[in-house]
Amino acid sequence: MEKKSKKTMVNSWNEWDSLKHVIIGRADYCCIPWPEPALDAKVPQDSDMKGMHGPRPQATVEKANEQLDNFAQVLEKRGIRVDRPKPLQWCQAIATPDWKVNSMFGCMPPRDVLLTVGKEIIEATMSYRCRWFEYLAYRPLLQSYFAEDPDMKWEAAPKPRLTDADYKLDYLSDKITAEERLKWTAEKNFVTTEEEPLFDAADVCRMGQDLFVQHGFTTNLKGINWLQRHFPEHRIHAVNFPGDPYPIHIDATFVPLRPGLCINNPKRRLPKDQRKIFEINGWEIVDAAQPAHKNPPPLCYSSVWLSMNCLVLDTKTVCVEASEVHQLEQMDKLGFEVIPVPFRDAYPFGGGLHCATADVYREGSCEDHFPKQLDGI
Ligand code: ALA
Repeated sequence: MEKKSKKTMVNSWNEWDSLKHVIIGRADYCCIPWPEPALDAKVPQDSDMKGMHGPRPQATVEKANEQLDNFAQVLEKRGIRVDRPKPLQWCQAIATPDWKVNSMFGCMPPRDVLLTVGKEIIEATMSYRCRWFEYLAYRPLLQSYFAEDPDMKWEAAPKPRLTDADYKLDYLSDKITAEERLKWTAEKNFVTTEEEPLFDAADVCRMGQDLFVQHGFTTNLKGINWLQRHFPEHRIHAVNFPGDPYPIHIDATFVPLRPGLCINNPKRRLPKDQRKIFEINGWEIVDAAQPAHKNPPPLCYSSVWLSMNCLVLDTKTVCVEASEVHQLEQMDKLGFEVIPVPFRDAYPFGGGLHCATADVYREGSCEDHFPKQLDGI
């Protein structure tokens, strides 16, 4: 088939090249999951999520969908193709031979599930039981991309068993003090074990030939090792961010804006030894601006640092949540055209503007932005 006759192309190597095609999630039927080991460790003791489960109030679903639809329109007006997943009824019980849970989660944050590296889209293993079947919402899209783009590669990472052996069952938020928790996460003692490879796609930050992967609650070292074996031409770097009591997903912690520039959460700085590769290659890591809000919105899993969870449209243009005045100002000072997008009503459904999207096509190819490498990382 001639290249120009293709309807769809999958291609995205980094977080900043010109975005042309993206998936944006939906809030329909989204559910607050019942307790399970990984979630019990993630929900802070003082959170209003504690003890909550079941369908989210319909009025909040509608408000979130309004903001998601508006975000899609903002991108479409700029010529970006936007596709949407097909929600399942998430509030239904699921089971495997090993376990049963009373509900699933949702398909608002496609970034958590789908990892696009070049021409390939991988369905991540996930590490919560309630998220085991989430890939199904994206299957209609993946099937059509596979049918339309003869070069697209489609992969499902090995589905994990997620038995109790995958979790440290005493890693409960109400049994650990805040200090203990920070000590444990700094020591890389996380809720997941090394029983089998586990990763969420949102722990992977793509910077061309180098992939930086957060080792934390949702991604273990075996998961990072699986990615290295799967992408032998890439250099995979395990990173972690002491200071984060709930290390889940890299994109409210460490975000590249263009080649040579990242913003880093000032409460969760990349450790000195892990900064070296950026320094020797002339990259600048600047502290992200302070969040504009003191608290996340009600019934939200994420922290106030969704302020920095921005979507870069190209090296000169970035979408930032509209009420995040400090982040908007910082982006402006860094030389970006800043597009404010109202999105706080969608936060409780699984995150900010970056979480809510998954790349299908960005222009550009696989480049080496870190020609100088260090031994042993
Ligand atoms: N880990 C992200 C946060 O800060 C989602 O909440």
